[in-house]
Amino acid sequence: MTPVHAIEITDAKGTSGSCRKVGRATEYVHKIAFRVAINYIVGMLSIVTLISGRGSNFEAIVKTAQKEQWPVKFAGVIANHSKAKGLDFAGLQGIPSYVIEHKEHATRESFDAALMKKIDALGADLVVLAGFMRILTPGFIRHFEGRLINIHPALLPAFPGLHTHERVLEAGVKEHGASVHFVTEGVDEGPIICQASVPVLDGDDAKTLAARVLTAEHQIYPRAVKWFLDGRLRIEGNQVKLQPPESQFFKL
Ligand code: GRF
Repeated sequence: MTPVHAIEITDAKGTSGSCRKVGRATEYVHKIAFRVAINYIVGMLSIVTLISGRGSNFEAIVKTAQKEQWPVKFAGVIANHSKAKGLDFAGLQGIPSYVIEHKEHATRESFDAALMKKIDALGADLVVLAGFMRILTPGFIRHFEGRLINIHPALLPAFPGLHTHERVLEAGVKEHGASVHFVTEGVDEGPIICQASVPVLDGDDAKTLAARVLTAEHQIYPRAVKWFLDGRLRIEGNQVKLQPPESQFFKL
């Protein structure tokens, strides 16, 4: 199988997507849809997840897959350092876990090359970024384009980047949320698969708001992954169409 890519969407900074990029993404998605369809016929699809921390989104996806008995293989979890707590859950579940220490690589390119090699070896059909706090190189992103997804703790395109909860509070907006999107070279700019909104309440601080958003994340990320696995997602321009259509926005 082909390799997959990861990128730290949440933190990365990039240029805005051009028409050319979107066209290429569409092409990738077609190729990927074909491979996914073949794999669906011959066996289970494989997911590789990249984490840096507690891995609660990864856990939500695995638990939903178990509960709903998805025909999927969690081929591996890769962390960029050994202290990532999510590795414990992977161990308990018998999901192969790997650590590729980013500090052992002199350059971002070298780290990404090692990551890419491992993901390829694991044969991922889909690469899920779940709190992976590394900026990925353009080459890495291109390699996995159309099968690399991320969750961002804000209602994109508002509040890309880091510290979203603090910035939301500072801005005084009354609605916040989370977005699942395909990863493109423009950080936090890829086509949006689905979003969920939550209210910002009087008396919220960054911690209470983050907890409310995280609950929403745990609901939408498994849904987005399942849609991908079922071959229901099509990128058209900068939009993601769900076939057959159903709401891609959840007000929680
Ligand atoms: C989540 O808030 C996610 O949106 C962001 O990083 C956090 C990761 O949390 N990218 P977890 O490791 O999945 O618990």
